[in-house]
Amino acid sequence: MLDFTSLRRSDIPELVRITRENMAQIILSAWGVEWRDETLLETLMDANLLIEVALEGQKVVGYHVLDQMEDYIFIVSIQLEKQHQGKGLGRFMMERVEESAIRSGLEGVELCVQSTNEQAIGFYRHLGYRLASRRRNNLTMRKQFGLK
Ligand SMILES: CC(C)(COP(=O)(O)OP(=O)(O)OC[C@H]1O[C@@H](n2cnc3c(N)ncnc32)[C@H](O)[C@@H]1OP(=O)(O)O)[C@@H](O)C(=O)NCCC(=O)NCCS
Repeated sequence: MLDFTSLRRSDIPELVRITRENMAQIILSAWGVEWRDETLLETLMDANLLIEVALEGQKVVGYHVLDQMEDYIFIVSIQLEKQHQGKGLGRFMMERVEESAIRSGLEGVELCVQSTNEQAIGFYRHLGYRLASRRRNNLTMRKQFGLK
């Protein structure tokens, strides 16, 4: 369904475009600040993070950024190009992350989502993620393997 590749320099402009289109309004509504490409570029350049770019054929359709913690995987970001949302690809990517965490013997998967991102919150809830904590407009959600 999707292929994955590690980040190539040539992918960066498209990943920035996809993310800006998805997130600028959400960040503005959650934090009252304008979108800055630089913040994302710093994340994409962080050698401690694992970035997988999702491809349909040769076309970049999305990516996720993962941080492997001691007991769980933290999803720093998951993004799909607007036209490719709502077709099961997000579930496919999340299941890939969860399978990798299970294979590594980890306890679960965790992520942060802005409280104004209702679409993503609904998506995560549907996939079994539950609210773990809330800090201002940031919700931490968690799926712990072995729990319903
Ligand atoms: C969030 C995102 C990754 C989800 O991926 P997607 O491809 O659109 O979602 P899918 O089509 O794979 O949906 C998977 C399942 O979740 C369900 N779902 C999706 N959104 C939902 C919602 N808001 N409420 C309830 N269920 C939802 C779907 O119906 C589907 O159900 P099924 O598999 O049981 O039939 C994608 O929409 C996206 O990139 N959004 C913009 C960026 C973003 O907000 N990222 C998260 C930042 S924290």
